[in-house]
Amino acid sequence: MGKSRRYLIAGNWKMNIPSSDAGQLIADIVAKIANVTKMDVLVCPPFTSIHSAKNALAGMAGIFLGAQNFYPEKNGAYTGEISAVMLRELGVSHVIVGHSERRIHFSESDKFINSKVRYALASNLIPILCVGETADQRKKGEELAVVTSQLRSGLGGISQADAKKLTVAYEPVWAIGTGETATAEVAQVMHAFIRNLLVDLFGQKAASTVKILYGGSMRPDNAKDLLGQDDIDGGLIGGASLQAGLFADVVKIAGELAD
Ligand code: 13P
Repeated sequence: MGKSRRYLIAGNWKMNIPSSDAGQLIADIVAKIANVTKMDVLVCPPFTSIHSAKNALAGMAGIFLGAQNFYPEKNGAYTGEISAVMLRELGVSHVIVGHSERRIHFSESDKFINSKVRYALASNLIPILCVGETADQRKKGEELAVVTSQLRSGLGGISQADAKKLTVAYEPVWAIGTGETATAEVAQVMHAFIRNLLVDLFGQKAASTVKILYGGSMRPDNAKDLLGQDDIDGGLIGGASLQAGLFADVVKIAGELAD
């Protein structure tokens, strides 16, 4: 494969899979992908399931644990929130930031998202910064402007050295949970556009190391086309990550492409 970046297949469980089910789902995934190497796998359970997921993963190389959110302060009076240190303590290495569901349902602003990206980097967590336009914005031809603005503000104040640790996810809102996927060509156009923006911001060398994941109804039947594109370095998978067989099949497809 011509790609220098290692694939990352990430599962975002969202508010699914309680602690009592997490160990089994992980065990099922692990059993199905035991022989898949040359790529990375990430699972992002809800906070309360992270511990069970960690126990089930014990000893598995190449499968990382992520969180779906955190609060960008050290500690203190932030009722209901979880800090970066608390996540690190559980073995979490990645955190999803700026997911459209948090922008929409929890009114997260670009400014707040930027503070999370910076705080995550300073705390040794890899932020997965999600960007993406709504159906309405795409209909109006605003998708490039929307993604530019989300990316530029989300990544404000980040050094070139830190930029190399970033992961970005392009998640068109109209494709999330809808069964409607961006075609590989449409996705590649946006991924290449994002890569160019990263070159503008951080230079060619740093930009070429950033993984850009695609998210939005990724499944085994569309994964090969999507992952085969030059600037698509993996997937951030919602619905299909809740079924070990579907998730493992996407992992295997990435493994074959990486061979
Ligand atoms: P679906 O795969 O369910 O469309 O969700 C994508 C997503 O939002 C991942 O973060």
